[in-house]
Amino acid sequence: MLAGRMETDQRFELLSDLGAMIAGEVMLDELLATFADRVARALGAERATLWLIDGATGEIRSRVATLPELTELRVPQGHGVVGHVVATGELVNIRDAARDPRWVDDIARLTNYRVTSMLSVPIARREQLRGVLQVLNKLEGVFTERDEEFARVLAEQIGRAFDYTTLRGADTQRGLNLTGQFNHVIGNSPAMASVYEMIVRAAQTDATVLLHGETGTGKGLLARAIHMNSARREAPFVHVDCTTLPAALVESELFGHERGSYTGADSRVIGKVEAANGGTLFLDEIGELPLLLQGKLLRFVQQREFERVGGRETLTADVRLVAATNRDLAAMAAQGQFRSDLYFRLRVVEIEIPPLRVRGAADIIDLAGHFVDQFARRHRKPVRLAPSTHDALIAYPWPGNVRELENTIERAVVMARGSELSTKDLALRRPDDSGLWPVASVLAAAAEVTAATEAIALPPDLSLEEAERRYARAVLDRCDGNQSAAARALDISRNRLARLLKV
Ligand SMILES: Nc1ncnc2c1ncn2[C@@H]1O[C@H](COP(=O)(O)OP(=O)(O)OP(=O)(O)O)[C@@H](O)[C@H]1O
Ligand SMILES: [Mg+2]
Repeated sequence: MLAGRMETDQRFELLSDLGAMIAGEVMLDELLATFADRVARALGAERATLWLIDGATGEIRSRVATLPELTELRVPQGHGVVGHVVATGELVNIRDAARDPRWVDDIARLTNYRVTSMLSVPIARREQLRGVLQVLNKLEGVFTERDEEFARVLAEQIGRAFDYTTLRGADTQRGLNLTGQFNHVIGNSPAMASVYEMIVRAAQTDATVLLHGETGTGKGLLARAIHMNSARREAPFVHVDCTTLPAALVESELFGHERGSYTGADSRVIGKVEAANGGTLFLDEIGELPLLLQGKLLRFVQQREFERVGGRETLTADVRLVAATNRDLAAMAAQGQFRSDLYFRLRVVEIEIPPLRVRGAADIIDLAGHFVDQFARRHRKPVRLAPSTHDALIAYPWPGNVRELENTIERAVVMARGSELSTKDLALRRPDDSGLWPVASVLAAAAEVTAATEAIALPPDLSLEEAERRYARAVLDRCDGNQSAAARALDISRNRLARLLKV
């Protein structure tokens, strides 16, 4: 009875959380990793696996099983129970796997996992099959009709959730878009392929990783990807931003403090290091950490030992460290601005994230398309990127990297009037021939504009129309009668200026 109630509670919770995940933009890896576990629990089963159909190849792949030993399984179409569900689109409830003709035991052999009962439900969306939700080994008895019903509702919600992720499949085609290696990490350029490879390899160990790259290249995102692809994915990922911490508080922020350790400390507080226990501690902008604190951090990095501020007890925490910076730590170390012993401890695995301009045209276009989709959904504006924008996007040097591209696209989507974003909508600043930032020309243009409109005095009590007309005349005078320059200074079209002057 009690077990029954708990299961019902878990079912409600699962469905309502899924709703929240759908409403917010989800990190899919995260969703999938915690999801399978909760599905299994809510259905009173041992395990759950989500099988996804690859829209490009037709293969059926499991991204996440609650199988720590395997990260991905692949099944050809029509093979085994999953293949059967994909072929027929029907729910299959197997009470005794060993006796079922559809059952093929190769996966069980591969995973060394004995299956007794199994519930497999198709996941569909807009009439297209996207995957299969599979729940294994009911703890007591077999899967009931109620379980079937619940699993169907769940599968429908999952199908919806895909629409809000990078996996979203084509409306008219079966399957999902499973090309990228990490969700929400876009770009398949050779430059990024080697980054992904290092990240996957580092993720499988507990090694400390140092991410180095220009601002906006995706260091924060990749730090998360390391965590999500590691065995620690279920434990916390704790972000420490070394720039925003006031120097006086860094130590207590990192290591916590005991009650009464300083004025205002009226209770014991656990630091980020302890909060990350079992998981990953991400030290962002590590180059900004004050020298004094670098020493304290070094001890923790070397021995995983620390004390809370005002505490005597030596504590330990089991965390993987990932650090990121856009600074040249080697040069800083050579100049005595960064402790070289700490630098060497941090760069066990050092990964260089390439700037966007060297990642090549395909990455820029893929990212732009991804951001257009994302912001079109978020701002509920169904816009597309006009193919004619590609040249400008590729030619632009992107000094602010992916973040700048993201911001550029968001602004363009928000401001868009029609259904297509044009090159003009993107409002990219044009680099001059030297390839350098056109700071001088931007400043000059701004100066010209202010000079044209500065301190124009109008008599009081004018009607708005009359005030506009006189103001426009005055600006035109300042621009020596050049209507284009005047329109620019007023930030209106030449036609509008002409109309204003006519009245
Ligand atoms: N490969 C990518 N695919 C999709 N989105 C990306 C990618 N790389 C970066 N982004 C997005 O671009 C923005 C900037 O990335 P992020 O914050 O990780 O950069 P960063 O290197 O940490 O920058 P900074 O040094 O300024 O802190 C984020 O919104 C991130 O989600
Ligand atoms: Mg960052």
